[in-house]
Amino acid sequence: MKKILLSIVASLSVVAQAFSEIESPLEKSVIISQQPVVPPHMLVIFGGGGDLTKRKLIPALVQLAKKGLISDHFGCIAIGRRTMSVDQFRDEVSAFISESDRPFLQQIWNKLFYISGEFESDQTYELLGFSLDQIEMELGTGGNRLFYLATPEVSFAPIVKQLQTHRLLSQDGTLLPWSRVIVEKPFGRNLNSARLLQHELTSRLGSDQIFLIDHYLGKEVVHGLLSFRFANPNLFVESFWNNSQIDHVSILLSEDIGIESRGDFWEQTGMLRDMVQNHAMQLVSLIGMEKPQDFSVESIRFEKLRLLDSIRSFSPESIEKDIVRGQYGKGSVNGIEVRGYQDENGVNPHSAIETYVAATLYIDNDRWRGVPFYIKAGKRLSKKLTEIVLSFKPNVLPVNGSDSNHLESDKLIFRIQPQAEIYWLPNVNDKDFSQQLGRRLLESDAYERLFYEAMQGDSRNFVSIEEHLASWRIFTPVLEYWEAHLPENFPNYAAGSLGP
Ligand code: BG6
Repeated sequence: MKKILLSIVASLSVVAQAFSEIESPLEKSVIISQQPVVPPHMLVIFGGGGDLTKRKLIPALVQLAKKGLISDHFGCIAIGRRTMSVDQFRDEVSAFISESDRPFLQQIWNKLFYISGEFESDQTYELLGFSLDQIEMELGTGGNRLFYLATPEVSFAPIVKQLQTHRLLSQDGTLLPWSRVIVEKPFGRNLNSARLLQHELTSRLGSDQIFLIDHYLGKEVVHGLLSFRFANPNLFVESFWNNSQIDHVSILLSEDIGIESRGDFWEQTGMLRDMVQNHAMQLVSLIGMEKPQDFSVESIRFEKLRLLDSIRSFSPESIEKDIVRGQYGKGSVNGIEVRGYQDENGVNPHSAIETYVAATLYIDNDRWRGVPFYIKAGKRLSKKLTEIVLSFKPNVLPVNGSDSNHLESDKLIFRIQPQAEIYWLPNVNDKDFSQQLGRRLLESDAYERLFYEAMQGDSRNFVSIEEHLASWRIFTPVLEYWEAHLPENFPNYAAGSLGP
């Protein structure tokens, strides 16, 4: 036992080291402030008047400015449907920046612009082209362009088509002047629409121009997970990372918030499309994948895809047995009364959209055969908690007279939120002891990291189209089955509870 614990501690300290010393490609972006300034370019955000821009994207730019990583030759144009002046836009985004970070917002204040227009209209792109020419000349950005599609997924293909028609895209993602396109999720609504989107994007953009973002891949613990598995010099991790030692794997994406002001979006989306098809499946692929041959984009994607391809498909029988959906009703979260999903703004009062999904996945390969992967994702649950737990096979030896039937199994926990930490929870009744065997990681913002990487042209932490297709292949039968068999018991869990 002592040997095992020493090995675990060694593994955890390797994780810690990885964050400070090792410069493997996976950790490259962790030590972001030692990185070079981003190359000259213009960033163009579609959906620029939306929540993501205010809450995440502009704050991420401010953090990059704070670390001295934004070039003098950088500018940002946000495009949104809402009519707003540039000054109004700047004021609106500044409300989301803390007092202490305001000086860094000031550094990019004059580089932020806003254009209002419809995403399908020619006029918008004429105006964008004209503005780009002017601002690029003024700021000396060299013609490099990074487009960010923070819009509903139906707009992705039309925007790229219009950018090409209006000659706003260069032909290359690497050679100067480059053009890259960051695409938000969900990538399509099901397997068919994702294939159509694949066709639309790949007929207009090279593979080095497409950056499919999943912000979970920018999170600290997700990087810690990869370091833990692959930057670890001893063979200890490999010895238990399989079905001989692991009993089951649980992935929890629990949120206490509801759908906020996104009623329209949720009515089109639901939990399976919003967080399971993408965030949860990315976590499954990172836990389950084999060690890549090297840390090139191709090798990492190859192994993630191979894992996704070995996940067992759902049949009507297994849908009934292995995946459940739920929707929150009114209740109380953190002591505050909140309304149910069907009473949220923009939601059909008889809506059958799910705000909760729990599923069991099986991976048919030698490493994981027989180990269930439990996924649970829900809105308006009791608390915000995002974690991956590897539960070991139960200990069969009763120690100190304890009853073997009541022995908990040891657990290895990758907690992503609310704090980023990796720790081992051995089967002992001593909390302090388990805490000694863990590491809290320094958090940096996921969007900041991924923005920086896209600006540098590094797509290792972005998702391939094929991974999305593989994930849709797993879940499209479920979506079709659910559409054909509407739930009769919604809402079926109270806000603030643990789910149905
Ligand atoms: C987004 C979803 O992708 O992830 C949101 O659209 C969800 O519905 C969010 O709230 C959760 O992200 P995080 O980083 O807070 O776990």
